[in-house]
Amino acid sequence: MADRPVVIVSNRGPLSFKIGHYGVLVATRGAGGLVSGIGPLVVGTPTTWIAAALSPGDRDAAEGGVVEAEGFRVHMLALDPDDFGAAYDVVCNATLWFAYHGLFDLSRRPVFDRAWAGAWDAYRRVNTAFADAVAADAPDGAAVLVQDYHVALLGSLLAERRPDLRTVLFSHTPFPGPEELRVLPLDVRTELLGGMAAHHACGFHTHRWAGAFAACCHADLGVVPATFVSPLGPEPADIGAVAGSAACARELADLDRQLDGRKLVARVDRIELSKNLLRGFAAYDDLLTHHPEWRERVVFGAFVYPSREGLEEYHGYRRQVEGVVADLNRRWSTPAWEPVLFDASDHFARSVAALRRSDVLLVNPIRDGLNLVAKEGPLVNDRHGVLLLSPEAGAWEELGDAAIGVHPYDVVGTAEAMHRALSMGAGERAAHAEALRAVATARTPADWLADQLAAAG
Ligand code: G6P
Repeated sequence: MADRPVVIVSNRGPLSFKIGHYGVLVATRGAGGLVSGIGPLVVGTPTTWIAAALSPGDRDAAEGGVVEAEGFRVHMLALDPDDFGAAYDVVCNATLWFAYHGLFDLSRRPVFDRAWAGAWDAYRRVNTAFADAVAADAPDGAAVLVQDYHVALLGSLLAERRPDLRTVLFSHTPFPGPEELRVLPLDVRTELLGGMAAHHACGFHTHRWAGAFAACCHADLGVVPATFVSPLGPEPADIGAVAGSAACARELADLDRQLDGRKLVARVDRIELSKNLLRGFAAYDDLLTHHPEWRERVVFGAFVYPSREGLEEYHGYRRQVEGVVADLNRRWSTPAWEPVLFDASDHFARSVAALRRSDVLLVNPIRDGLNLVAKEGPLVNDRHGVLLLSPEAGAWEELGDAAIGVHPYDVVGTAEAMHRALSMGAGERAAHAEALRAVATARTPADWLADQLAAAG
């Protein structure tokens, strides 16, 4: 794969262990886009993947040091549970994620109190534990590919421990500009940016995020570190295999029965604040109100699955989403038609069936690092589906010319875009779909991995 040995570091690893009968550990593929993207490329290679032990089974597996299973070599770290909880929930999910996605309700959050300072200490300790593991495991001169904000301080920690290593940090999230990053106190953002900038290079999915990061470093550190831009793309063979599977065919038949010939506006997302589910439903409500011709002729299929349920904001958001769906169905349903199909079952074959069957795919995030669904949809769609895409998704940089833009806060504009997409003639749909497919297949995970190794030098 590369001249240098490779080590991958991420919070969520490629394997998840369960304690089976008689205490035997059973490995399954971990969840998440990172694993489905680069997992197949490192299977069967000597690459070591260092990740946090997330489940009790993972913690048992961690005791054995490096574990080999399903073609992966994984080193799970059994971190102190209190440290892990504070670092993951308080720093990563409730602070950095909110700052990067512009999600703070500023009259209330963030609050940098003493409890937060304790969580930041925990975040430092978690990063130090990762750095110690890399320092112990990494072969001489290895390329260390660090993924995301959970482990952002590794650059500086590894520079002290193992100057022979070449470290690259890839951020899958957006990155805010200097004005927005000022929501973090100066000492925190200096340490954060310093830890990131100490990698040999920092990669992002778009020029926009890379430029914002460089501007933040310039403003707060007075330096501009090496950055590179490398958007991830889906692996056509992998998503194609799911789309062609018997399980997907069963789900598609089931969905077809439910839709009964109606058009499908679909979304496939985590139930996540940045995904903007509420305004998507508000736009659909507006469509049914102001374009009555679509009543009984369209279904909004929300294939969404729970995420980060340990955080109160996420719980509340899920409840609100479910309330809005119930309200829409109560107000608009007729004996023959339920306007919203809400599916929170986290069933990948069913989500892919929805992507195949959709006439319109709604991807309207408030902000998103990339959004792989925007590329996966056009790749597997059977019906020349139209993509409605927020310019705040990183994927817009590549797909913007082929998709219809929907401003994430503009509910009327989104409703009108739904109407336009649903009304579009066959010729225009085919042209759209062809353009979308060309962009969606332009880059694969192998290109993305190669860019990181090139950046490692
Ligand atoms: C999304 C983001 C990634 C992030 C991941 C963490 O997939 O795009 O940037 O690493 O969430 O999710 P988790 O469930 O592990 O908190």
